[in-house]
Amino acid sequence: MYYSSMIVDKEVLETYEQAKKAQRNAYAPYSKFHVGAALKIKQKQLRFTGCNVENASFGATVCAERVAIMSSVASGNKEDIDFIVVVTDTDPAIGPCALCLQVMSEFCKPDMKIYFANQQEIQRVVTFGELLPNRFSEIPEQI
Ligand code: THU
Repeated sequence: MYYSSMIVDKEVLETYEQAKKAQRNAYAPYSKFHVGAALKIKQKQLRFTGCNVENASFGATVCAERVAIMSSVASGNKEDIDFIVVVTDTDPAIGPCALCLQVMSEFCKPDMKIYFANQQEIQRVVTFGELLPNRFSEIPEQI
């Protein structure tokens, strides 16, 4: 049974379900802040998931979104991400940190959608370009 305050299509709902499952795998003994992420590949029934994986050496912690992106890239899917769903326990639901946005900037187009959700519902959608209009790049880009 799905409940969402936003009208979203079946592909988004299915990806949301995977992000919720991934959130349950979060390894977050230090912050206790559990995050799940799932992304869908364009024109394929392929999805990749991630959860945050913390470390006693805090800087070694990896965010859920980056785990999902790395997994996608490792499987050979670099440039065809359709959208990403991020699940936290917060209300309002929140989106990716700046570090994750910078990592996404290598692989995501400005119009890629990012859905903010919690375990209860998908609350908000924004484009990647809205969150990070000017990425860092060694090669200067037109802005
Ligand atoms: N975290 C994510 O997984 N994604 C984000 O975009 C921001 C933060 C994780 C990292 C850490 O394990 C916990 O949330 C608290 O910062």
